[in-house]
Amino acid sequence: MIYVGTDIVEVDRIKALIDRWPAKFLKRIFTPDEIAYCERQAAPGIHFAGRFAAKEAVKKALYAAGEVTPIFFRQIQVGRTPQGVPLVRLASLGQRALQVSISHTGRHAIATAILETDD
Ligand SMILES: CC(C)(COP(=O)(O)OP(=O)(O)OC[C@H]1O[C@@H](n2cnc3c(N)ncnc32)[C@H](O)[C@@H]1OP(=O)(O)O)[C@@H](O)C(=O)NCCC(=O)NCCS
Repeated sequence: MIYVGTDIVEVDRIKALIDRWPAKFLKRIFTPDEIAYCERQAAPGIHFAGRFAAKEAVKKALYAAGEVTPIFFRQIQVGRTPQGVPLVRLASLGQRALQVSISHTGRHAIATAILETDD
């Protein structure tokens, strides 16, 4: 089966959360690698927003597939290939395959996740 999740995020909302609780918000949501990647970019807030949307999209796809345990943001790791394609890692994924796509403008970030299961 194929399950889909999608999410859209306002970049300014993510920037405001980072400005308000820099350490707390970042560490609760993002992995050290994600933080390092976003902070290397010219406009980090856009990339944090993209990863936030990706994590929400992944959660939606997993919940659509019947996941009943809570999934925490930091469990979902959003990396990238050398070409820039998002690569998602999640310890509890098992045999399921997960693909994510991210897009952003200066104002919004959007992500779609597709989860493929064996059944
Ligand atoms: C990939 C590409 C379509 C992205 O378009 P874009 O309008 O710049 O992307 P957006 O701003 O909407 O979204 C950015 C996100 O796209 C994703 N992305 C970047 N490169 C990507 C790629 N090659 N494939 C899939 N997704 C990609 C990333 O998640 C990125 O977010 P991040 O920078 O926070 O990691 C464009 O950069 C492109 O055509 N690059 C050339 C790719 C190439 O040469 N491929 C070689 C084979 S033809």
